[in-house]
Amino acid sequence: TTTAVRELLLSRIRDVADHPKPGVVFKDITPLLADPEAFAALTGVFAEQCVRHGATKIVGLEARGFILAAPVAVSAGIGFVPVRKAGKLPGATLRQAYELEYGTAEIEVHAEDLAAGDRVLVIDDVLATGGTAEASLDLIRRAGAEVAGVSVLMELGFLGGRARLEPALRGAPLEAV
Ligand code: PRP
Repeated sequence: TTTAVRELLLSRIRDVADHPKPGVVFKDITPLLADPEAFAALTGVFAEQCVRHGATKIVGLEARGFILAAPVAVSAGIGFVPVRKAGKLPGATLRQAYELEYGTAEIEVHAEDLAAGDRVLVIDDVLATGGTAEASLDLIRRAGAEVAGVSVLMELGFLGGRARLEPALRGAPLEAV
C-alpha cells in the first residue's frame, strides 16, 4: 500500500468517542464506504493481497467484514463465504465459541462452503482483541481448508490482537492496510 492510499483510507475512518459504551472509541468506516475512491482503493489493496497469497476463497466476518470482503471476492473472481454470529445461517454449520472481555460469543459457517483444497483469506474491518479472527481460523481449518491470511483495514495495537492471533496463524500473514 502506498503512503498516499494509506493516508486516504485512514482519513476516511471516523473515531466516535464513548460508542457503544463509555470509554470505548469506535472506529466508524461509514465515511470510507461513502467515498467511492476510498472504497475502490481499499478493495484494490485487499484484492492484491488475495492474489499475492494465492487465495481461492474469501471469508468475511459479520457484519462490517461482509461489506469490505464482498467486492474483493468479485474483483478477484473467487467465492465469498460469510462467517456469521451463531443462529443466523440456515444450513448445516460448524460453530466455534470464543472468549470476549465479558463472557463468550459464537460464530458459524456453512460447512459446505469450505473444503480441502481451499485457501482462504479472512477479511474484516478491525482487529481488536483478535478473538473473532482466531475463531474464524479454527472454523476454516475444521472445514478442512487452509488459511491464506488475515487482512484487516485497521489493527488496534493496544488490545494485543496480533499476539493473540499469532499461534493460530501458523505462519500465515496478518496484514493491516
Ligand atoms: C467488531 C469488528 C470485528 C470484531 C473485532 O465486530 O468488526 O469483527 O469486532 O473484535 P475482536 O478482534 O476483539 O474479536 P462486532 O462484533 O462489533 O460485530 P458487528 O460488525 O456485527 O457489529
